[in-house]
Amino acid sequence: MHYQNSLLELIGNTPLVRLKRVAAGLPATVLAKVEYLNPGGSVKDRIAVRMVEAAEADGRLRPGGTIIEPTSGNTGVGLAIVAQEKGYRCLFTCPDKVAADKIRVLRAYGATVVICPATVPVDDPRSYRSVAARLERETQGAVLLDQYSHPENPRSHYLGTGPELWRQTDGRITHFVAGIGTGGTISGAGAYLKKVSHGRVRIIGADPEGSIYSDPEGPVRPYLLEGVGQPQLPRSYDPTVPDEIIRVSDHEAITMTRRLAREEALLTGGSCGMAAVAALRVAERLTPDDLVVVLLPDSGRGYLAKIFDDQWVARLGLFDDPADTGPRLRELLPLSVERPRAIVLQPEVSLLRAATLLDHYPGGTHIVVTAGAPPLRLAEVVGLVAAHTLRDALTDPRRSAIDPISSVATVRPHVGAGQSASAAACHLDAHDAAVVIERGFVCGVVTGDELDDLTRADTARTSRETALETT
Ligand SMILES: Cc1ncc(COP(=O)(O)O)c(C=O)c1O
Repeated sequence: MHYQNSLLELIGNTPLVRLKRVAAGLPATVLAKVEYLNPGGSVKDRIAVRMVEAAEADGRLRPGGTIIEPTSGNTGVGLAIVAQEKGYRCLFTCPDKVAADKIRVLRAYGATVVICPATVPVDDPRSYRSVAARLERETQGAVLLDQYSHPENPRSHYLGTGPELWRQTDGRITHFVAGIGTGGTISGAGAYLKKVSHGRVRIIGADPEGSIYSDPEGPVRPYLLEGVGQPQLPRSYDPTVPDEIIRVSDHEAITMTRRLAREEALLTGGSCGMAAVAALRVAERLTPDDLVVVLLPDSGRGYLAKIFDDQWVARLGLFDDPADTGPRLRELLPLSVERPRAIVLQPEVSLLRAATLLDHYPGGTHIVVTAGAPPLRLAEVVGLVAAHTLRDALTDPRRSAIDPISSVATVRPHVGAGQSASAAACHLDAHDAAVVIERGFVCGVVTGDELDDLTRADTARTSRETALETT
């Protein structure tokens, strides 16, 4: 009889699988380390068990205690599995951009989850990190493990992931590629591989556009990928380990994630697509003697309503829905990511100044209020202000002309630049306008009236064409 006494015994020793199709034609071999085959479905199972055991060993975690963690899901699942095995309670804080399914999974394992705003700075009392710290202070017998500063995070990879990679490749690995979230994977596994190979193995990080790892001086901007990138360097990251960090856009990462599912039957999360893009870029410049291993941290099941949902990607201008056959908004309107088709104003601009600018903008119907500068991410849009709302506000005796424009801005839906007018109109509901998105960036505003006109024009064109075909 062969069985495990506990799921914890199944953590680690994940397989390496060759990427055949997406890496076709590249000189070097590219292998993927498939971490979703851990019992909790991600690489984070590895750190969960070691962080809990360290807290037990130093007496901070006692029977009946509570494990608290700010987590985007995967670490939570790992901790929930370990907690069940050992009889602890789990209390997690998550940013609100995390896919709803991932939160449901945490709750299914019996954890309590507190949702926090994703767009506030890390040191804001409402951030998921600050809330976790507060809950630790307020909960008796609670321990905040904090994967961002915990030495057992990189150590789990130094002692587990790194040696596995070396063993599984018989020491032939030449390049290791991993996305950087807390930095634990790359710092731990990377340090081990460098040591064991006497510096021969190259360590390459993959990082989303807008994160600090690939551009420490640049502005921190929001991105769609989850679990990777940071607004500031965490203690769990050792910047001396990576030899190179490759920046990957949301569009590139999501495209590759969908390809991994369709061409390699690897249903993975968006950070896996990101890491794979970086790995293929590295493999392009290598030789047949090189062996690239890319770590794929988690499964795509938590992203079915996002990355794998045709509507979700179409509305962000990431992919055009082939079933949507009408002319696309980008063919019909002068949309531009660099110069969005709208007036873009900072939240503190006064109502009076906004009205003056609007008067000088021919055909301007809406103002986009945002603290960012183009290329603007959807998450940076505070809201829209319609021209008539602005005029009404200026004649409203309860308001002042120097009130900020943000005080009258309201959130509107978004549509994809690759959608047809009729498909886009379906997302408007009762709203008068929508923000138009191309590859994740704001490229303009379209009104409901414009969409109606474009839909009517398209219907007239198709009926003319049908009439011509039948005559
Ligand atoms: C989905 C996903 N990918 C990648 C990573 C990055 O791993 P690390 O935190 O070890 O840098 C994480 C970490 O949270 C993750 O959740």
